[in-house]
Amino acid sequence: FEVPIAVNEPILDYAPGSPERDRVLKTYKEMYNETIEVPLYINGKDIKTGDTATMAPPHEHKHVLGTYHKAEKKHIEEAIAGSLEARKKWSQMPWEQRAAIFLRAAELIAGPYRAKINAATMLAQSKTIHQAEIDSACELIDFLRFNVQFMTEIYHEQPESTSGAWNRLEYRPLEGFVYAITPFNFTAIAGNLPASAALMGNVVLWKPSDSQVYSAKVVLDVFREAGVPDGVINMVMGDPVMITDTVLDSPDFSGLHFTGSTTVFKDLWQKIGTNIHNYKTYPRIVGETGGKDFIVAHKSSNPRQVATAISRGAFEFQGQKCSAASRCYISKSIWDDVREMVIGDVNSFKIGSPEDMDNFFTAVIHEGSFDKLASYIDQAQIDQNAEIVVGGTYDKSEGYFIHPTVIKTEDPKYATMCTELFGPVVTIYVFDDNKWEETLQLVDETSGYALTGAVFSEDRYALEIAVRALEDAAGNFYINDKPTGAVVGQQPFGGARASGTNDKAGSKLNLYRWVSPRMVKETF
Ligand code: ALA
Repeated sequence: FEVPIAVNEPILDYAPGSPERDRVLKTYKEMYNETIEVPLYINGKDIKTGDTATMAPPHEHKHVLGTYHKAEKKHIEEAIAGSLEARKKWSQMPWEQRAAIFLRAAELIAGPYRAKINAATMLAQSKTIHQAEIDSACELIDFLRFNVQFMTEIYHEQPESTSGAWNRLEYRPLEGFVYAITPFNFTAIAGNLPASAALMGNVVLWKPSDSQVYSAKVVLDVFREAGVPDGVINMVMGDPVMITDTVLDSPDFSGLHFTGSTTVFKDLWQKIGTNIHNYKTYPRIVGETGGKDFIVAHKSSNPRQVATAISRGAFEFQGQKCSAASRCYISKSIWDDVREMVIGDVNSFKIGSPEDMDNFFTAVIHEGSFDKLASYIDQAQIDQNAEIVVGGTYDKSEGYFIHPTVIKTEDPKYATMCTELFGPVVTIYVFDDNKWEETLQLVDETSGYALTGAVFSEDRYALEIAVRALEDAAGNFYINDKPTGAVVGQQPFGGARASGTNDKAGSKLNLYRWVSPRMVKETF
């Protein structure tokens, strides 16, 4: 009953002259020069509908990477019917076979697909090689490996039996199919949301974000090569409202595995509620949604540590992480030092295309995101109670480049302290040294989200006050560290309030959601 012990995939460093650097650059160039078509993938068949949309790199939006095909309603219905047919065999498949498929997928990414999945993530999501390596290669490998281990741990959890009665928990998959919706920002999440439900014996209809299709296709190719049977994971693109309405109208809809915006998630939940009488079973609803993640620094904290947490926590991955720091509360007596250090850090960032591997920072995902960020920056330039500390410029002539921007405000409820922007804009509020408890209350009350947060203090009493005051303010809470960078198998990830159902990706808690156990008591 044992499986290979899951270990985190070592992160390669892509140093100049290293074979992995040469390989990924070569792959990037080949993929850049090629134009691809991404069909729907339904019940083992590639389907080209002829109704297509274009894919382009955010850092060079006039360059065409290819097109993807969009589904009509009948394709979604076929996918659902096919997956329910596939479920008959897949749900009976011994767990060892399911585990072997996804362990093989992990090894394919670790080896032959590594350069391709990284290059695809660099092109489609404008990630630097280091961001792609961490997100798309290593984190996805970790999800796949650790989930297999967690699955077997769950299967081991059995009730006591007595001599005359044998009690067995059978961890059956959900009755029906799971709908997975994945976001643009992590290729690892694109892989994990369908794979974790499928590993537990479910069949999955997967809709990747429009901005992710290019890299999602590589993940799909890995699943296919690893041996995921036809119909077990179908991938569809197209009008999200049509797809979702068709899915949620099916009586066999039995679970939603979602990462994306709070608004969309609430809307889905509401539709599920409206349809509740039509379903054969109560659907499982698992969502990781928005965030307005904080850093709060006590006067006793180390300014260098705080500045690094801001620079890295807010600007790595172009700030396009649900965990990214976006509102910071800094004690007055350390602010001048923190300010100088953050300005120095930001000015040292090399910004540009991921093809230049020295770049630390690239473009934001699309024009909608660019325009939203630019409008908040413009507003901060004119508002009396806001000041741009560093950054504040942007340019979309070739790619969607927003300069990493720090806004300082006198108003703790200023728009950019409360609204999720999902990009490289962070706002600072400086508080009086003697207002620690009032500030913690502000942190707790301000955003309505509760995903990640970090507290900095060298004073253990102040720290303890913060730990208690912010108990419900973050699902992933960091002490003297930036609020980003959770590692599968080390820090299960997820938050509550408007940030999600807190079913902790990369842990057993998530996998429990994809089983519907049958308790069998047999007497002798
Ligand atoms: N798991 C990612 C992080 O913690 C989102 O930054």
